[in-house]
Amino acid sequence: MATVSPDDQFEAVERTLVELREAGAPRLAELKVELLGRKQGLLTQILRSLSTLEPEERRAVGQRANQLKVEIDAVIGQREQELRAGESSGEDVDPTMPGRRSWRGAIHPVTAVIDDVCEIFRELGFSRVTGPEVETDAYNFTKLNIPLDHPAADMHDTFYLSPGILLRTHTSPVQARTMEQHKPPIRIVVPGRVYRRDPFDASHAPVFSQIEGLAVDEGITFVEFKAALDYFAKHFFSADTEVRFRPSFFPFTEPSAEVDVQCQMCRGSGCATCHRTGFLEIMGAGMVHPAVLENCGIDPERYSGYAFGMGPERIAMLRYGIPDIRMLFQNDMRFLRQFVE
Ligand code: DAH
Repeated sequence: MATVSPDDQFEAVERTLVELREAGAPRLAELKVELLGRKQGLLTQILRSLSTLEPEERRAVGQRANQLKVEIDAVIGQREQELRAGESSGEDVDPTMPGRRSWRGAIHPVTAVIDDVCEIFRELGFSRVTGPEVETDAYNFTKLNIPLDHPAADMHDTFYLSPGILLRTHTSPVQARTMEQHKPPIRIVVPGRVYRRDPFDASHAPVFSQIEGLAVDEGITFVEFKAALDYFAKHFFSADTEVRFRPSFFPFTEPSAEVDVQCQMCRGSGCATCHRTGFLEIMGAGMVHPAVLENCGIDPERYSGYAFGMGPERIAMLRYGIPDIRMLFQNDMRFLRQFVE
């Protein structure tokens, strides 16, 4: 019967040990089994054969086997550490692999308009503030000099949540909230969502945005009001944009105006967008009504101010040539992707 001498067995272990020092992760796992496997492991077999040896040889072989066992454990430990370090330092990274595809986001056109408008008014000293979307009829209507029997307060136009509690129909209630809490000088812009029982069609939505503006101080006149809105139009649209004020009516301003800017499509010569008038309406505005100041604890003999309200959806539609307001709410990726810079 052919037997394998301990020397041959040790030689096999040492050869494997050499390979172990260089092995990659999969080969390392195999070599561990080849050396230390419970049944066929090379070292395991040596240790198992000890009982068949003469006492003297048993001691020598046993000692050598134990030394090798210690060395094998150390080499495996070191090699595993090296492989882990190689992984995290990117040694195994294949730089020719195509990159993972990732989405690039964009600023929504309505958000872009809101940010740009607020930035221009910031240059004029206005702070950006917000207010609640669920309001009382006092803030939404009566403090603003809108009587509750006014058509705007009707169930037909307003989402009431319970008697006296509603979804605000405009951002103007934040005027009242601010004047009650802060003494003049006040200069604020208020972007936010508003709600109306309107149909959802090409030019209406039951929820949309507004930006309210309010300035209250001693000695504010119609001249400052016009100058501020002219500055806004020339910075938001273009330096040669003409602004036009038309007399109008709002319960919370006196006098009231509708503010038009030169049509951006035809530069004032008349086209379908501006119905051949050369101008487009962009906001309602006016000098704050003395009754509103008084309702909010501000002395109308001492202070005066102006206010305005504009619709960012409408302005975004003009700015980007968007024909249907619903596109601003549907979040169709084919539409939104056009705003990725
Ligand atoms: N609150 C008005 C609306 O929703 C817009 C408005 C008009 C706001 C004139 C104002 C203003 O502050 O002075 O239709």
